Amino acid sequence: MKQRVLFVCLGNICRSPAAEHIFRAKVEARGLNDLFEIDSAGTYSGHAGELPDPRMRQAGAEHGYSFTHRSRPFREEDFYEFDHIVVMDDSNYERVCRLAPERKYIDRVSRMRDYFTTYARDWSYVPDPYYEGREGFHLVINMLEESCERLLDILQGCDN
Ligand code: 4NP
Repeated sequence: MKQRVLFVCLGNICRSPAAEHIFRAKVEARGLNDLFEIDSAGTYSGHAGELPDPRMRQAGAEHGYSFTHRSRPFREEDFYEFDHIVVMDDSNYERVCRLAPERKYIDRVSRMRDYFTTYARDWSYVPDPYYEGREGFHLVINMLEESCERLLDILQGCDN
């Protein structure tokens, strides 16, 4: 059965679309495409329909990615449609959990920081790069590359 993974941030134009594409690239690199369904969403709907922020797309291109997701709002039904909901910070966590149809669904929600290993170990969240310079976008991509690797290790069941 497919594992359905949803990444969530605020605007769904910077962090979570990057996470979606980076996680998908790792799934593809391991030849696991048939085993995963991957998407992203935002708790704020103001950017619905938009491509990722041009600065995030540029930073992504410099790391070899093409970020083409279209922003969409997170909704209550996502709790039924995804097995794993991975948020970028505590504010995302609170907003997502408030929409849970029942308490038990909150078990599906984790924070990206739960998967930080070496590079990002001094952080407790994925920082919002929206009001930052170029470096903020590269920082996010580096954090997501290591955390997506660990998340996939865990979901693939090969984490020790
Ligand atoms: P994201 O970044 O949550 O990583 O997509 C943001 C995008 C837009 C806004 C804030 C954060 N905004 O306020 O419009």
